[in-house]
Amino acid sequence: MTQPASNKEQIDYWNGDAGKRWAAQQERLDGMLADVSKAVLKAAAPQPGEHVLDVGCGCGQTSLLLADAVGPSGRVVGADISEPMLARAKSRIGSRSQLSFMQADAASHRFDSQFDLLFSRFGVMFFTDPDTAFANLRKSLKPTGRLTFVCWREPRENDWVRVPVAAAREHVPPQPSLGPEDPGPFAFANPGRVRRILANGGFDVITMRPFDTQMILGETLDEALVHLQEFGPISRLLNEASPSQREAAANAIREALAPYAKSSPVKLAGATWLVTAKCG
Ligand SMILES: C[S@@+](CC[C@H](N)C(=O)[O-])C[C@H]1O[C@@H](n2cnc3c(N)ncnc32)[C@H](O)[C@@H]1O
Repeated sequence: MTQPASNKEQIDYWNGDAGKRWAAQQERLDGMLADVSKAVLKAAAPQPGEHVLDVGCGCGQTSLLLADAVGPSGRVVGADISEPMLARAKSRIGSRSQLSFMQADAASHRFDSQFDLLFSRFGVMFFTDPDTAFANLRKSLKPTGRLTFVCWREPRENDWVRVPVAAAREHVPPQPSLGPEDPGPFAFANPGRVRRILANGGFDVITMRPFDTQMILGETLDEALVHLQEFGPISRLLNEASPSQREAAANAIREALAPYAKSSPVKLAGATWLVTAKCG
């Protein structure tokens, strides 16, 4: 696998505990993201016979859906850097001969195919140098090809992150502050930045449409708490915490989520951008 030194931090992160937790929680995470998947697939409109690259495919949920949409005459390649997540993805292929997974850094890998569609569900915000990464991805598209992905809007619009993070923060060791352009889940929150990156990468006719959803964190408050500590920004926040700090943070999160747990399931607002573009 080609590994530019600059993406090493993310490669380590997604091959470590985070990737293992995602693989173990695949079903639950995919359930939580089902509405988002439906929306981004609708925006991408994959057609029978098309060739699709699923960038940062993780445990493969959207690759499976894309493979079903393009059918046996099409082709779907799911590319990711995370071994544990790819292992989970590969175990789910079933009889879909049109689907394959590969371990590759999408920022630099020379994909051998000319794709009709570059697709991603939350897999393109982790590049250290997104301009170069998108210019590289652009080379794998046919001249008539298109790009569709979904990314998070600002944390302040994403209550499922904002509420628990605000509650936990004072109980855990201070985190190195992540700049708005640093690789991470919210790196593509600023639409001006996304448009700039895509234009620099050779894309055109760029659209960004807000898609709002409800993130179901669990059936009960207990379940939501466990779930939040296993993935995403809260798990990152708790990484360096001692057992007593974790406990204090969990108590604070429980209190903050209580108003959302008056009825089941426990759900909080999620805010995304649906992004589409064409080859420039
Ligand atoms: C938030 S997860 C989303 C996974 C999957 N698309 C989903 O929706 O379940 C981000 C994914 O991007 C992958 N990723 C991060 N940087 C990458 C890179 N440079 N090349 C390929 N995949 C990358 C991670 O390994 C991880 O699987």
